[in-house]
Amino acid sequence: MTLNSNQPVGIFDSGAGGLTVAAAVRNLLPEEQIIYFGDTAHLPYGDKSVETVRRYSLKIADFLLSKNCKVILIACNTASAAAYEAIVEHVNGKVSVINVIDPATELVAQNPKAKHIGVIGTKGTIGSGMYPKKINELAPEKQVVSLATPLLVPMIEEGFIFDDISNAVVKKYLESAELKGIDSLILGCTHYPIIKNQIRKYYDFETLIIDSSQVVAQKLKAVLSQESLLSSKKIGEHQFYVSDYSSYFKKLAEMFFEEDIDLQKVTL
Ligand code: DGL
Repeated sequence: MTLNSNQPVGIFDSGAGGLTVAAAVRNLLPEEQIIYFGDTAHLPYGDKSVETVRRYSLKIADFLLSKNCKVILIACNTASAAAYEAIVEHVNGKVSVINVIDPATELVAQNPKAKHIGVIGTKGTIGSGMYPKKINELAPEKQVVSLATPLLVPMIEEGFIFDDISNAVVKKYLESAELKGIDSLILGCTHYPIIKNQIRKYYDFETLIIDSSQVVAQKLKAVLSQESLLSSKKIGEHQFYVSDYSSYFKKLAEMFFEEDIDLQKVTL
């Protein structure tokens, strides 16, 4: 079946983190209808095995295809590391698939200011070694160090942001020996932009903080434009699905999208 520009854009994450990417898509491409799926029943993905994250991701890809999406954007680093190739194979050319790691690594590889780069992310993302591998393929001269920061996702999903608890957790991680002397830090998890200012403050606003949401939205625009699938008129409302109801997710989605959200629960 041929795709057309009126079809929605499918975006998914384990939970609310991907809303940072979805919001960047909404800002850059306001005519696109977004179908968002947050796998809140299985969150966090970061501690799960590659096989498990792949299994969940393939089911979500099928769900987004059943909603008639014209493209799938994996707004989760952990799923991008574990399941990108599997999803590409699974959808078998029906739609394009975009991950969040490639646009971020391309961006940092091109930035002359980023010489000694730190990456923080879930255990799954950091354990995959994707960031150092991909950055060094493009820019072998750059030094890349990484640190798993597994407490951050549950902390953010529980709403511990801009308070003493989250400041202490952020400080504990960022003062780790692994990250000493970095000039830039990649937020290698789509949840982390939610606490970006806390992270910037830890560095007295001096370290370059790389949040990939905007560059991922630009990548989506480029892919849709190349496929002549950019929408010129918004046809339907954005739709938000979760695998388990979460009032915090609803609150964050309403904050990011500045509209009332009718959150729907689906079991995959
Ligand atoms: N936002 C997901 C990511 O970018 C969080 C993963 C998790 O659920 O642990 O990796």
